[in-house]
Amino acid sequence: MEEPLPRGGMIRKLWISESDLYRDHLLRLDPESRRSRFSGGVSEQFLRDYAELAFGIDSIIHGFFVDGTLRGAAELRTISAAVKREGEAAFSIEKPWQSHGVGSMLLERTLLAARNRGLKFLHMICLAENQRMQQLARKYDAELSFDFGSVVGEVTAPRPTLISLMREIVADGHGFATAMFDVQARLLAG
Ligand SMILES: CC(C)(COP(=O)(O)OP(=O)(O)OC[C@H]1O[C@@H](n2cnc3c(N)ncnc32)[C@H](O)[C@@H]1OP(=O)(O)O)[C@@H](O)C(=O)NCCC(=O)NCCS
Repeated sequence: MEEPLPRGGMIRKLWISESDLYRDHLLRLDPESRRSRFSGGVSEQFLRDYAELAFGIDSIIHGFFVDGTLRGAAELRTISAAVKREGEAAFSIEKPWQSHGVGSMLLERTLLAARNRGLKFLHMICLAENQRMQQLARKYDAELSFDFGSVVGEVTAPRPTLISLMREIVADGHGFATAMFDVQARLLAG
């Protein structure tokens, strides 16, 4: 269900060395989007610290770039080593690029990465009144139930398939061997 991105836009994974880009993107969010993203008001210092810590070993961040500037991001992380098949996803898109299908594209890429890592449940932390995020989640492979303002989506095809692995590799533009090694290492670790 791929939709065209806004003109000049592209999506790719962020590198661990790109936490500055992520920080600057989070700092550019307008107050309402910032509140929606973090389920409440947070300070600039919080965002600076958050961006630095966001690139953990269990996290994958897809970025939406326009002319080289990060304008949107989707974080995927495994919740804890004890709950291997559960992940958490969160999205942030700067205001001028909202409602242009970017969230949908980022969610597609996030679901693909989740499936390829054997994740079965995705928690999408959002405020109960965040209709747009819930509408977005409903569109995709997830069956959803609502609980205390957060959306829990079940990834319907928890096993990675060769096609889903290939789609992610092609989307990343990685060498096949490197990408397969990465995926296998993650699966073995799981
Ligand atoms: C929530 C968010 C990620 C959605 O991304 P987006 O690019 O704006 O969404 P899309 O354009 O892909 O639209 C997704 C769906 O939401 C619906 N939608 C779009 N704009 C909407 C609006 N203003 N109000 C209600 N629903 C809306 C659309 O119906 C669309 O579904 P459709 O394609 O079936 O019509 C983005 O708006 C955002 O970053 N908001 C601020 C932070 C946030 O709320 N994060 C979520 C919590 S982690």
